[in-house]
Amino acid sequence: MGNQEQCENQGKSGDPKKTFYVTTPIYYPSDKLHIGHSYCTVAADAIARYKRLRGFDVRFLTGTDEHGLKIQQIAAQRGVSPKEYVDGIVEGIKKLWGLLGISNDAFIRTTDERHRVGVQRIFQKLYDQGDIYKGEYEGWYCVPCESYWTKTQLTDDGKCPDCGRDVELTKEESYFFRLSKYQDRLIRHIEENPEFIQPVTRQNEMLNNFLKPGLEDLSVSRTSLDWGIRVPFDEAHVIYVWIDALSNYITELGYAADGGDALYKTYWPADLHLVGKEIVRFHTIIWPAILMALGEPLPKQVYGHGWLILEGGKMSKSKGNVVDPVILVEKYGVDAIRFFLLREVPFGLDGVFSNEALISRINSDLANDLGNLLSRSVAMVQKYFGGALPPERKAADVDKELIACALAACTRVEEAMDKLQFGGALTEIWRLVSRTNKYIDETTAWVLARDEGKKARLAAVLYNLLESLRIIGVLIQPFMTETPARIFAQLGLDAGLLARWDDAKTWGLYPGDASVAPGPIIFPRIEMEKSLNELEGLAKTDGHGGQGGQESKDGKDEKDGKDGKEASAHDAV
Ligand code: MSP
Repeated sequence: MGNQEQCENQGKSGDPKKTFYVTTPIYYPSDKLHIGHSYCTVAADAIARYKRLRGFDVRFLTGTDEHGLKIQQIAAQRGVSPKEYVDGIVEGIKKLWGLLGISNDAFIRTTDERHRVGVQRIFQKLYDQGDIYKGEYEGWYCVPCESYWTKTQLTDDGKCPDCGRDVELTKEESYFFRLSKYQDRLIRHIEENPEFIQPVTRQNEMLNNFLKPGLEDLSVSRTSLDWGIRVPFDEAHVIYVWIDALSNYITELGYAADGGDALYKTYWPADLHLVGKEIVRFHTIIWPAILMALGEPLPKQVYGHGWLILEGGKMSKSKGNVVDPVILVEKYGVDAIRFFLLREVPFGLDGVFSNEALISRINSDLANDLGNLLSRSVAMVQKYFGGALPPERKAADVDKELIACALAACTRVEEAMDKLQFGGALTEIWRLVSRTNKYIDETTAWVLARDEGKKARLAAVLYNLLESLRIIGVLIQPFMTETPARIFAQLGLDAGLLARWDDAKTWGLYPGDASVAPGPIIFPRIEMEKSLNELEGLAKTDGHGGQGGQESKDGKDEKDGKDGKEASAHDAV
């Protein structure tokens, strides 16, 4: 790195680097993950990569939320233990993150021993100090599904939202967390810290829909469930959902664990919890209340992103519209998929996913704009100068606009990334890609090449193309994992130089003695019709091993009757 940012980061006295702790939600391993889940993890990865490039000491955590009735039931249907079942799915999830180039520093499973110990100690502490008490939980119980629902979760005609059958009002002994006690502090915290919940629309939603109408205490244990972490002082109860799941962000750092909490001291509070919009409530009300009760600092920001919705609505195997990211990555390459996810939908809003939109983007932005720019530039240097540019170069006025555009790009990317506007950052980079393509048309190198007297001008034009591509190669690193090095290889540059983010702020660093090395096309054009047909065929037969997951019955998502109607993503991809 060795750049200004890092120096700032390290402080004048060589203090340790500033830390940045970013998390994804932990995913339910009840079935293999789809493109919607990949969306959040890819976004978190882009931020992690960006912050590392800017000199931060980053910790990036993802993982799996493995307990609950749904998994217990699926495993029973298959005649395996819940742990055996989730082990298979988790292996597939890790393989998926590998394929997508996810650079997580840690992976937590809620079945990890360290997590169990941490959660039990947290529960015990909250109980000992009176923040958890024993009471009675009243809910609408569906016998065949063995699920409790709140009144608002039932269908409009009062049936089970999962199977549509009758439900009965039932009571069960349960432990409760005194959520109501923290209501006023939560409101104050949200009002005094406008950065805490982003985007701002979600902030208003939390205040107006949940906090101001008043919070009820939260049921945090079940006797009707086996597959979970036991309440340490009452074996009949299993710790229910959110205390188990949310605590992952600190148990992974060794909070309340044997063996020290050095990581916790280094990285907590988290800088950013990235979550889907339906679980913002859990992360901005329940989680901070638990932390307040524990006397621990709150995360600095919870960002609720939108959903990828599939064209035509709900995902379903019978409709043949399941979008398996493994298939997409194998077909189009990791960088095309990452680019599409981050470019297509403004982060924070919902957006439609379609294979057609994916292929169009690949063809226009990647094959046409970036891919052609690289191959044309490198080919011209090869053709007109045998690969290395001569030192005599003659500048012209037309260069100035290109240089100004390139010099502005990095700061604009930073501004967008600091607001988590991935699409905006990519738009800025593509502004430079387009400007450089326009420069090719303006300068007509092939005409200059015919005139021996214009060699110095031709050399300057080609230098500017390579220099612009060098800057583009540096800037796309948060978003793409393979392309930057492939661009640098063709430019004849050492991939080690990519780490120097601030080099994108300086014009003229392309070394005079470098030689280009023309290579394969980085983004081949895709034939739309043919490719769409192939994808359709694959989706129908699930023709790939995918993540080794199981077929979901009807595309229903994995919420196992867990608290909150908004925890349902049924219509999402
Ligand atoms: N296990 C809980 C989270 C606990 S975090 C302490 C959970 N798991 S989940 O697997 O159902 O969802 C995980 C994340 O994936 C959520 O943030 C959810 O919004 C996201 N997505 C699931 N489908 C999605 C889309 N179609 N589009 C975008 N994100 C989606 O909830």
